[in-house]
Amino acid sequence: MAEFTKRVFSGIQPSGGLTLGNYLGAIKRFVDMQEADFETIYCMVDLHAITTWQDPSDLARNTRELCAGFIASGIDPEKSILFNQSQVPEHTQLAWIFNTVARMGWLNRMTQFKDKAGKNRENASVGLFAYPALMAADILIYHATHVPVGEDQKQHLELTRDIAMKFNHDYGEEFFPITEPVIEGAATRVMSLRDGSKKMSKSDASDMSRINMTDDADAIAQKIRKARTDPDALPSEVDGLEERPEARNLINIYAALADMDVDNVLRDVGGKQFSEFKPMLADLAVAKLSPISTEMARLMEAPDEIDRILARGAQSAREVAAPILKRTYEIVGMVGA
Ligand code: TYM
Repeated sequence: MAEFTKRVFSGIQPSGGLTLGNYLGAIKRFVDMQEADFETIYCMVDLHAITTWQDPSDLARNTRELCAGFIASGIDPEKSILFNQSQVPEHTQLAWIFNTVARMGWLNRMTQFKDKAGKNRENASVGLFAYPALMAADILIYHATHVPVGEDQKQHLELTRDIAMKFNHDYGEEFFPITEPVIEGAATRVMSLRDGSKKMSKSDASDMSRINMTDDADAIAQKIRKARTDPDALPSEVDGLEERPEARNLINIYAALADMDVDNVLRDVGGKQFSEFKPMLADLAVAKLSPISTEMARLMEAPDEIDRILARGAQSAREVAAPILKRTYEIVGMVGA
């Protein structure tokens, strides 16, 4: 296998506000990797967002707000490349090649497509179906070796590996790396506060089901106070969370926010009732999230500065992507590449 630089890529859709799930499952991990021994590239994937309808002015605002969220959470545009996808056309150019590598049968198996298309599949956009090939291109246009994501993206990352392997095999060259998913930490799947069997999501009809990164302290405290739980006290060991999805979720959130192991959290809070634990969790969440939402609001007052950051990031991204696209075209046999 060829040697590849240790390089991280990950993306988030600007299709609505950021949730605590996005923060704990993704952005917080992005910051950790930025501070470790990796080149890091983070993207607002606006071209993915429009696979379901986005009002144009909302899309622009959400893209800037997401950028503000990245920066407020600790992504430093001097250390990481930070940009929006549509400013780097190499993503879609490589995606076309990957549309010819990926098989219909592979995409037919994608559970995210099935979930998002729902019952009316005939009416889903072609883009929603082809989405995972663009996602593979996002990653492989940088020869990224590591991709931090939440649990729900695992299947897409397996597909990315399949596409890389088939391309390398078909064209007889170990050109694309076989990317490692990085799905780690206490909160790889943050669940709805109203239903412990459903993922916390920006598209859930109930705002009480999620904590938004723009929620103020009162809203955060109220949502945690009202979060669904069971009547039992908290256990002292992980085994005691079995069959208690809501309790497990709140403990996972606590552990991720506090940068603690679940074991250690349970050692501290085992035996407590939710009436005692929920205020502890609310205080911790407010302490960790308020500075981020305050900073996001401050950054959003200077949208021109955000646009400059994104333009600079896009330029740096293109410097990495362009030679990889050129070589891909050569391998495929495109004249003039
Ligand atoms: P998206 O925009 O739905 O979510 C962005 C990131 O947040 C994670 N996440 C969660 N983690 C834990 N608990 C939750 N409840 C939760 N909800 C969301 C997601 O796993 C993801 O890491 N297809 C991707 C975007 C994408 C991408 C890429 C990611 C496009 N190209 C290339 C990585 C690499 C998506 O829809 O994520």
